Amino acid sequence: MHKILANTIFLGKDIHYLPECHSTNDEAMQLYKQGKAREGSIIITDKQTKGRGQRGNQWFSEPSKNLTFTLVLSPSFLDASQQFDLNIMITLAVQEVLAQYTPDIQVKWPNDIMHRYEGKLGGVLIENSVSTRGIDMSLVGIGLNLNQTDFAFPGPTSLAKLTGSQVEVWEILRLIVKTVENYYLRLKRGEVELLRRLFIQNLYRYNEWSAYRDQMDGEFLGKITGITTEGKLKIEKESGQLNQYAFKEVEFL
Ligand code: BTN
Repeated sequence: MHKILANTIFLGKDIHYLPECHSTNDEAMQLYKQGKAREGSIIITDKQTKGRGQRGNQWFSEPSKNLTFTLVLSPSFLDASQQFDLNIMITLAVQEVLAQYTPDIQVKWPNDIMHRYEGKLGGVLIENSVSTRGIDMSLVGIGLNLNQTDFAFPGPTSLAKLTGSQVEVWEILRLIVKTVENYYLRLKRGEVELLRRLFIQNLYRYNEWSAYRDQMDGEFLGKITGITTEGKLKIEKESGQLNQYAFKEVEFL
């Protein structure tokens, strides 16, 4: 397992493989507190029994078919107001790798991995610990549907469903870790504008008229026009009104 991540500088040099656990983000937090995980550590499991998603949702993943793992980062070069830059670089890295397998893979604001027409392939749950120094620790939990083909409810898809063949899970992990490391180092070098541009280029529903729901108008037709530096989603309404939404303030229909 260590051998396959020999292509990186720091990310994935320390791998904690757990055959089964509740949540790799929770395991990562425990290991970090005990001093057993640090920047670059990866916690990965074959069977996650209490996977957590965004908005308090659960994350379900069929054992041994998919990727469920957490990367530990210490991006203290970012301050609390720059947390969205982490979302950008992680989702972009995952999108770029999956796009090598099949076309039309996009990032859905704020941090889903989507197929443009077929549904959600994966998601990212980033949990930061922030102090006056900046972001001391970031637990980047990534769940991706790779070889699972049966889902209990409509909405998700997987790489195997999209391509019609099974994929090599560890090869995808290796590519993601390499690509995340590359983007992380770019972020550290201050290349954030480039990452933001790439994020917009690969953004699900960018510049397309689609249906949304917000508190003010209920259902409405709108067009995503961009992202603010703090990561708010900019949507133009049919009326011409320009709105900015924080996470949870707008629903994609
Ligand atoms: C979402 O789309 O809601 C985010 C899903 C994130 C799931 C991953 S799987 C590995 C890590 N451990 C967790 O408990 N959650 C994340």
